[in-house]
Amino acid sequence: MQPKIRSIGILTSGGDAPGLNAVIRSVVKTAIIQYGWDVFGIVDGFEGLVGEPRIKPLTLDSVSGLLPRGGSVLGCTNRGHFKLDPASEPGPITAFQQAAATIARLELEAVIMVGGDGSHRIARELIRLGVPLVGVPKTIDNDLAGTDSTFGFDTAVSFATEAIDRLHTTAESHGRVMVVEVMGRDAGWIALYGGLAGGADVILIPEIPYVMEKAAAKIVARVEAGKRFSIVVTAEGALPFGSVSGAPDAFGGRTGAIRRTVNVAHDVAAELEEMTGRESRAVVLGHLQRGGSPTASDRVLATSYGAAAVKAVADGQMGHMVAWCAGRIELVPIGDGVSTARLVPADHPLIATARGLGISFAGVSD
Ligand code: F6P
Repeated sequence: MQPKIRSIGILTSGGDAPGLNAVIRSVVKTAIIQYGWDVFGIVDGFEGLVGEPRIKPLTLDSVSGLLPRGGSVLGCTNRGHFKLDPASEPGPITAFQQAAATIARLELEAVIMVGGDGSHRIARELIRLGVPLVGVPKTIDNDLAGTDSTFGFDTAVSFATEAIDRLHTTAESHGRVMVVEVMGRDAGWIALYGGLAGGADVILIPEIPYVMEKAAAKIVARVEAGKRFSIVVTAEGALPFGSVSGAPDAFGGRTGAIRRTVNVAHDVAAELEEMTGRESRAVVLGHLQRGGSPTASDRVLATSYGAAAVKAVADGQMGHMVAWCAGRIELVPIGDGVSTARLVPADHPLIATARGLGISFAGVSD
């Protein structure tokens, strides 16, 4: 049955990603122009529903100019009050119960939540408490299960590619090994796409534990072939072969197998310098990948997701996440599947393409 909707809320949860503002704009414009609803922005993600509610009305004027803007005008919270481990919830009323009660009190007939895996786990609990919620997938890592694409990824890959292009020229002048670290805690999508687009010689991803001697051998082979420089792209979550795999954290995700005191790029650069005798430098791209204006492709995806989320609300499809599946937008239930990481499979065609081009993943079988 189609619900009678007058007011909806929207919030951006977890870490930010380029394209969040494009989703907000798309939701507000579609909800107002197509359906005539009121839209309220919930500030700082789910945190805006704990204690005194922090909300603001969103109008066509307030979303004007948002399409190219990075970040989120509503604010984001990565680690807040919502603990999925009940034992760690303070007080008799949990943050989940508070949020559910606040949404009812504000008479929001639906909430559109833009977030990644952790946020969808929070959303799943709220849905269990009766909150009418539709999810929009977001993460620059592109590792959310249930969807082929998340906005922010293309922007991150474009930035990484430009950085690798720039590092090529300085690496070549000095005959150095440049080790570039990109984001990707659990999944190596940014490293794989950025490495391919930037012409890396070695790509290290969490899904293929690396053997440093293999990476060193690739660099030495290049030197012997007359190439004085090499480019290594590593995901932040890349791990040496034989290290322990990550334990599940309170949200059911991986904490990361080893807690590093330095970024992986620094370890890799130091080891490669020792093994190859080639001067090496580490560059960590970090949050630069999450900042700035979204690419055209991310703007289109974010806009499509926002409009589809509003339609899902109008159709009474609460409890679903909009998803990009085989070239079109679908709705998938916010269940267990949505909250697990979508890793790079060993038989992914781009892995074979890269290997065919002589790129090494420094894995046991490389
Ligand atoms: O999940 C997105 C992501 O950018 C990861 O690639 C990265 O490990 C993490 O967020 C960084 O989170 P924070 O901004 O909290 O340091």
